[in-house]
Amino acid sequence: MSPQVDSSSSPSSSESSKSDSPLKNANESDTKVPQVGQVYSVKRLDGEWWSAEVLETRVNEARSKSVEYFVHFEGLDKRLDEWIDIERFDLSKGELPKHSKIELEISSDLSERKLTRHQKRKNEITNNVQLINDLDPTTAILEKEHEELTKVKYIDKIQFGKYEIDTWYFSPYPDEFGKQSKLFICEYCLKYMKLELSYRYHLSECVARRPPGKEIYRKGSLSVFEVDGKDFKLYCQCLCLLAKLFLDHKTLYFDVVPFVFYVLTEVDKVGCHVVGYFSKEKDSSDNNNLACILTLPPYQRKGYGKFLISFSYQLTKIEGVCGSPEKPLSDLGKLSYRSYWAWIILNILKEASGMLSIKDISKMTSFTQNDIIETLSSLNMVKYWKGQHIICVTKKAIEEHLKLIENKKPLIEVDPDYLIWEPPKKQIKHSKK
Ligand code: ACO
Ligand code: ZN
Repeated sequence: MSPQVDSSSSPSSSESSKSDSPLKNANESDTKVPQVGQVYSVKRLDGEWWSAEVLETRVNEARSKSVEYFVHFEGLDKRLDEWIDIERFDLSKGELPKHSKIELEISSDLSERKLTRHQKRKNEITNNVQLINDLDPTTAILEKEHEELTKVKYIDKIQFGKYEIDTWYFSPYPDEFGKQSKLFICEYCLKYMKLELSYRYHLSECVARRPPGKEIYRKGSLSVFEVDGKDFKLYCQCLCLLAKLFLDHKTLYFDVVPFVFYVLTEVDKVGCHVVGYFSKEKDSSDNNNLACILTLPPYQRKGYGKFLISFSYQLTKIEGVCGSPEKPLSDLGKLSYRSYWAWIILNILKEASGMLSIKDISKMTSFTQNDIIETLSSLNMVKYWKGQHIICVTKKAIEEHLKLIENKKPLIEVDPDYLIWEPPKKQIKHSKK
């Protein structure tokens, strides 16, 4: 799966990059040139060799017309797909057989077991093995179409405020913008530009210093804005395009009117800098209290994701209902929600003086009963008895488990005293006469 290669068989150097018609060479059946659709041993960014399929080739004009190959590392999340030079291939091994998903799952499981704890931490993000889903035929076709349309990511990087950020996935920026390897995005109004020059000019004349809409939360340097898709269509569309660079599923880009966006910012003397956001359907028939959630990569793993999740439940509490995030959740979405649910539920159970039912917890948290049952089942703390789910755990077991997950305490709490919000008035539906 990830062969170690000694220096004698190091990847061959590229003759083709000096060729006049490099793309032509890339498509010829020359064994020394990677072919689209074939699998090779490729060096990952962390130095490990891994089997990867070539999905596309391009000539990079900016880099003396060198050929680049867009590769997908088998069994790993698409966010690790990259445009790479020929130097990263080990062509001495030739073309490798494609792995089936089942083989991948088994081999990844084995390689996972062989890793030391240190390696495991290092690979936490990269070794995210895709699960095999039994999809119904229609979903399978839609999935396939989505995969085809989004398999090649052209925008590698964005400049966003002071950060240059590597992107993860394809995003449908309009034609010429979507084919740029770097996009420049104004961190305040989210306008996107191809050229650094136009970006610099825009910065000198853009007057926005915060998201549009209403500031509904401010505590310390954190601030949340409520932005209605109906009132600020362009801003919300730009936000969705930006978010799509880091989200594999969830394909809402242009029909933003039925959604409200809650944009989290860090405030300093200069302005409000976007950290992340979540969107919420105004009228969700599935009780979804969150559609999409994102923390921009430079801000990830600092507690903002759980802050946004907690914020979404605060709003749901004020509405006096319960809610759940829209499915499917991404791998990172699942990790964050599961960890958040478990922490909150276990703390409620720890503090409870008498018996608590799942319904009671749902009322206290605005979590759906399903999410509570799933969380407790994963902790082995629920039993199904006479057609009902019953919480079945001792105080001691709860305390012991809480000790185990001490480091999962949400890092940034939402303080309800600083939230000024009332639910938007629902549109009155006129019945037909
Ligand atoms: N690898 C492993 N664990 C991670 C990673 C990572 N790269 N990133 C976050 N986590 C874990 C954290 O360790 C933490 O769990 P723990 O407390 O149990 O250790 C948990 O996720 C949440 O951490 P936060 O710092 O609160 O969250 P963060 O700000 O990183 O945001 C989020 C989480 C929003 C999911 C972020 O990873 C993201 O934007 N991902 C890309 C977009 C995405 O996948 N969104 C969810 C789609 S599903 C939906 O929208 C309904
Ligand atoms: Zn601007």
